[in-house]
Amino acid sequence: MHSTVNNLFLYNQLNDSQASNSIDSENTQTLPFLDSLACPACNHSKASITIQAEKLRCTQCETEFPLCICGEQAIPWIFEQPNLNLLEWKARLNGFLHINQLEQQRLKDAQKDKRLSKTGLKRINKLFNAKKQQVEQVLELLLPLNLVDQDSEQLNNSINELLSKVPKVQGLDSYYNNIFRDWAWDNGENQQLLDAIDNVLEDLKQLGKILTIGAGAGRLSYDIHQKYSPSYSVLLDINPLLLFSACQAIQGNEFTLNEFPIAPLNKDSFIAEQICCAPEGVQQNIYYMFADGMNPPFKAKSFDTIVTPWLLDIIPQNLKDYIPRINACLAIGGSWLNTGSLAFFHKNQAWCYSEEEVIELLEKSGFEILSVKRCTIQYMHSPLSAHGRMENVFTFHAKKIKDVVVPRKYEYLPDWIKIPSKAIPKQYEQEIDSSKHLLQAQVLGAIDGVRSIEQIGELVAKQYNLQTDEATHAVRRILADYCEEN
Ligand SMILES: C[S@@+](CC[C@H](N)C(=O)[O-])C[C@H]1O[C@@H](n2cnc3c(N)ncnc32)[C@H](O)[C@@H]1O
Repeated sequence: MHSTVNNLFLYNQLNDSQASNSIDSENTQTLPFLDSLACPACNHSKASITIQAEKLRCTQCETEFPLCICGEQAIPWIFEQPNLNLLEWKARLNGFLHINQLEQQRLKDAQKDKRLSKTGLKRINKLFNAKKQQVEQVLELLLPLNLVDQDSEQLNNSINELLSKVPKVQGLDSYYNNIFRDWAWDNGENQQLLDAIDNVLEDLKQLGKILTIGAGAGRLSYDIHQKYSPSYSVLLDINPLLLFSACQAIQGNEFTLNEFPIAPLNKDSFIAEQICCAPEGVQQNIYYMFADGMNPPFKAKSFDTIVTPWLLDIIPQNLKDYIPRINACLAIGGSWLNTGSLAFFHKNQAWCYSEEEVIELLEKSGFEILSVKRCTIQYMHSPLSAHGRMENVFTFHAKKIKDVVVPRKYEYLPDWIKIPSKAIPKQYEQEIDSSKHLLQAQVLGAIDGVRSIEQIGELVAKQYNLQTDEATHAVRRILADYCEEN
């Protein structure tokens, strides 16, 4: 904890020393998609987002949206509760720093292990230094978030109302290796993905205004932009580490980030200090935006092309409801270009569609299918790792032929969480989970430094009217799992 505080201190120092981190009216005047923004806070049909006093502001509800200054770019932060969202990413940064600190501590302990060979000790020393360095690298990339400068009054107001949240699965370092795939490895994967898109585009050469949803570290958007010279491209994502990496690389700024390959090939491939940069240098007319791609905050028909790379199977909502949202953002005649896997993770199997069902859903939601292709590409294979996989990607080009009705906004949280006075509905999963956690809590709570497993088993047997053997076995299993997890 103490070191996490030190790390944040380092962040503040870096922040103070970053002269270019101030808002310059030139950065903000050049956001060509500003007129297309809808307000996610009030959803008022007449709302516009305008620049006032170096901030973006909704003309209807007056919600202020921060701008993150990253080099020459001003990146809008357009969420329903912008300050709360910023706070959530701050918490994620803290979580990342905390884990890094634990890893450093474990490596420090390992350095004392007398059984280590010279080669082993060298590896541990290198890893330790690389983990330390990683903190500085990540904090530096995140400087444009300006985490130290939050308006505390506004923040307190948002904390009282929990209307939206960042999905739990989206951590700061989720997709960390995508940064290297995009800007460092140069192993042909990016070209293969661009080829997959090229193959479905066929004769279409004019892409107009492009929006990429879930752009990540940005390479596919950059390659498409480079090849097709659209009017402009907007890269949208929720993850600051990924989008700032994209923004730095595409502006022609090199940055260094430590890679920790998943399956290192040999003693020299446990860490790599990767220099990340864009192969073709700076690209003009590329813009960035932090927003929730599940409810893209745009006025109807704002874009001519929408790209969704590796997105459709990781979204939390039913794809059936998501397709009309993409439709709404596209102009009639506009193109939807999708590529990636169809490995849906939903617990509800009804939402885990086959490729044929995806095509049916598109046709039912105002799209004409122009091309569908499958091809096998290499995926996330670091040159330093024995690990990597081949993916058969599903790529389509669908043309919007008509408008359709858009379902109500996607809500991450049910009403009974947003309105604390509402009754919480009883659900089957909660009952199972609660009995599982309750027993674990009771077993852990019964540990007093004196009792044995048998004695705790007897307590459990009495309470739940079980055979002692059965209860002792259950206690033993719970504690074995607990030891394994910790
Ligand atoms: C599987 S990754 C693909 C990244 C990138 N398209 C690529 O091919 O490397 C999914 C991306 O979607 C982003 N993402 C997830 N949920 C999102 C949301 N609700 N709104 C916007 N982006 C989101 C993640 O941050 C991540 O960059």
